[in-house]
Amino acid sequence: MWTFENPVRISFGAGSLDMIGELVRGRSYCLITYNEPIFFDISGRIAVAAGPAALTIDNVIPNPDFDMLAESCTLFVGAQPVPEVIVALGGGSVIDAAKVVASGGNGFDAVKRYLEDGSGEDTLTSIPIIAIPTTAGTGSEVTSWGSVWDTDAGRKYSLSRRSLYATDALIDPELMVGMPRELTISTALDALSHSLESIWNVNGNPVSTNYAVNAATEILDILPELVDDLGNLDLRVRIARAATFAGLAFSNTKTALAHSISYPITLRHGTPHGFACSFSLPMVMRSVIGASDTCDAGLRRIFGSDLPAGADRLEEFLVNLGVSVDKADYGIDDGEWRELIKSAMTGERGRNFIGSQERVTECLGAAKR
Ligand SMILES: [Fe+2]
Repeated sequence: MWTFENPVRISFGAGSLDMIGELVRGRSYCLITYNEPIFFDISGRIAVAAGPAALTIDNVIPNPDFDMLAESCTLFVGAQPVPEVIVALGGGSVIDAAKVVASGGNGFDAVKRYLEDGSGEDTLTSIPIIAIPTTAGTGSEVTSWGSVWDTDAGRKYSLSRRSLYATDALIDPELMVGMPRELTISTALDALSHSLESIWNVNGNPVSTNYAVNAATEILDILPELVDDLGNLDLRVRIARAATFAGLAFSNTKTALAHSISYPITLRHGTPHGFACSFSLPMVMRSVIGASDTCDAGLRRIFGSDLPAGADRLEEFLVNLGVSVDKADYGIDDGEWRELIKSAMTGERGRNFIGSQERVTECLGAAKR
């Protein structure tokens, strides 16, 4: 038995940003975005189609932390009247920040308390969100959770609530055409990780696996071409579609071991999320081969019948993109790596992983190039 559910209405296509007026429908809206010139231009187009924003919050930084989010919530609460809908324009950090603001209509302290001890859910608000991703990778536009970082305490939380599904995901690959090479790679690898992690996952089901297989196959096929042709709209459309499929896949499974390993690496070493959650994928894949017929079948649809060779091909794919699969290149020594793997296996996401501790120790402990 299995269930698949995703309530987000997806509007997809080059030029689809112009639909924003139909989605806002005359409601007052708060725009959450980055304080960078490219986003001023897109915000201007949104204002033409949907009217001016009642409030703009543009203090978002990568990996939104408690301090930044407290400031965002204060700005939102201070608006009179409070906007009816939030439009999140940006990458994963913006959409995750929007989810916190949507919950923090009574101030950030309520969100913080809920994150820290699970209490006070009735004090959280649920403002509708329209998500407009400007990268192809996060998947946050179709999931019901967002990452929140307590940088001072060295902790990463996931704010997870059903009401955090955006009402709409407006995905316009034209907005992604100018994305620089490194961001294109890191975000696409995040999507690749979402797809593979939803396959070697205790929560996997035939629908999530179908999305994941499609997404991973596309990303492996076209990312090498895209990085040498960043302005190619057709390739941007394909990678955005693949990232959307990956998002739909892991919206029902959440992530697994590679993501669990990645969070302390991002916190301690500053490694961008897309690299931190993908450099270990070949090792994780080697460790999971043979663990489950269903998982093996899903991986074979992507990598062909010889899965060990497929893991080698995945490693080659990463290395050819300039992504090292050696932990030392991320500043991680043997002791930290052992500790990371141990805690990752018992962490919330690690428990989604279908592989065994023994095989993980064998494959991740040994793999080094
Ligand atoms: Fe991710």
